[in-house]
Amino acid sequence: MVEPSQFSPSASSSTADTEQEAQRLRREVARIPVWWHSIDLGHGVVTPGQKGNTGGTHAADFMRAELERLRFPSLAGKSVLDIGAWDGYYSFEAERRGAARVVALDHFVWSMDLGTGRSEPEELPGKRGFDLARRELGSAVEPVVADFMTMDLEPLGTFDVVLFLGVLYHLKDPLGALHRLARVTSGVAVIESDAAVFPGFEETALCEFFESDERDRDPTNWWAPNLRALTGMCRAAGFDPVNVVQGPPTSASHAQPGTAPLRYRAIVHAEMQTE
Ligand SMILES: C[S@@+](CC[C@H](N)C(=O)[O-])C[C@H]1O[C@@H](n2cnc3c(N)ncnc32)[C@H](O)[C@@H]1O
Repeated sequence: MVEPSQFSPSASSSTADTEQEAQRLRREVARIPVWWHSIDLGHGVVTPGQKGNTGGTHAADFMRAELERLRFPSLAGKSVLDIGAWDGYYSFEAERRGAARVVALDHFVWSMDLGTGRSEPEELPGKRGFDLARRELGSAVEPVVADFMTMDLEPLGTFDVVLFLGVLYHLKDPLGALHRLARVTSGVAVIESDAAVFPGFEETALCEFFESDERDRDPTNWWAPNLRALTGMCRAAGFDPVNVVQGPPTSASHAQPGTAPLRYRAIVHAEMQTE
């Protein structure tokens, strides 16, 4: 039996409004040439996350599984800094989990026109996805446009939780980067990185260096540390303890010593003890 209200002009016009809203949003999403993250913007519209070179597809199911793997600490009431935020999926998730303040920091990709590959630091064409998502989600995440490696860290301050996801191996000076990370972390840094096992050398701290684009045809991939190197660099930078949340896959333990490096993604929670 059909309820009379379903035929009322107000019900049908509000359905039409919602559909118009979804169409408008779909058009805006389609105008962004590359979305890195799948973000649910509401109205049934989810941004089309891209395939990462080394880190999965960034489709909605990958992002949900990745959140599980990262095992964020409780973020309720915390201050959170997301370094290398790109479209902001993890910043918005931190906000959704009740963080009191979230800062999303990026510069490299935000400066790029990912349609043409040109850098336009004045226009920030690569930030349009983040801006669109922030507006649609009614988010209060604070964007900071800055190069984490050269910016003045004093005005940025310190944060209870710092997300450093998929950034370390893009930086020419990873140990220097971890020292800077330690300066802005008052609680824990969640670090996710491309990583490698060098069979037979698990007890030696080693990093593979890529001089060009041999790591997945991406000239901005410089390093693949093994777990010893990653955890050791974190401690050398002042973090302690450094807890391994995701180490090498179990299949790596069967590799013959001296055979080719095995790639995987490492996750550590690096804690900062403050008196
Ligand atoms: C592989 S993406 C990871 C994006 C996101 N954190 C994630 O895990 O899905 C690397 C990000 O780090 C940013 N990035 C690279 N170098 C940076 C730097 N020196 N300062 C700030 N952001 C940087 C890039 O612009 C890009 O958004």
